[in-house]
Amino acid sequence: MSSKDKGVVVWFTGLSGAGKSTIADALVPKLRAAGKKVEVLDGDVVRTHLSKGLGFSREDRDTNIARIAFVAHLLARNGVTVLVAAISPYKETRDSARALIGDFVEVHVAPPLSECVARDTKGLYKKAIAGEIAQFTGISDPYEPPDAPELALDTSVLTVDEAVERVRVALVAKGYLDVARRDAAHAS
Ligand code: ADX
Repeated sequence: MSSKDKGVVVWFTGLSGAGKSTIADALVPKLRAAGKKVEVLDGDVVRTHLSKGLGFSREDRDTNIARIAFVAHLLARNGVTVLVAAISPYKETRDSARALIGDFVEVHVAPPLSECVARDTKGLYKKAIAGEIAQFTGISDPYEPPDAPELALDTSVLTVDEAVERVRVALVAKGYLDVARRDAAHAS
């Protein structure tokens, strides 16, 4: 199978506000230009549809992640490059997703917590610190970092473009993306 037809799940894990969705969204046009079929499964979006009604207990988060992993697996085995952007705070649950999916590239989007709190893009950290949101990841709920992710990106020092490029290079190195096709797509 050429790399063009090979599906994979790129699993972005990390704190709220780390930059998971931003990197995934910026990666989409690059992958399409390289001839890939692409889907994004974003925790915030999935929670308005497939996982509507779920909360943030460990059980509900695990259910959310298991659903995302199930759909990602179906897509990836049909040749789609799936970009998952979900906090997915529990190691064991991410490892189950990896075992199910097989073609799995774990990307830890890992700025320091202090950077996420300082950015507070959705205003949720302020509320969590004030005690207005219970079980908030990094504040009053755990985040278990991966021991051996395929990639770790500190978005407090990398630009979005740099982070995207690192993912692209990793996908080429692992045979999920054809470097030549990208040039061909640009040339045409
Ligand atoms: S996960 O833990 O189940 O993987 P997911 O990525 O789907 O989480 O959703 C996280 C998003 O939900 C956050 O980016 C934030 O916008 C919102 N959110 C609301 N409440 C919480 C909470 N208690 N902990 C973390 N995120 C929360």
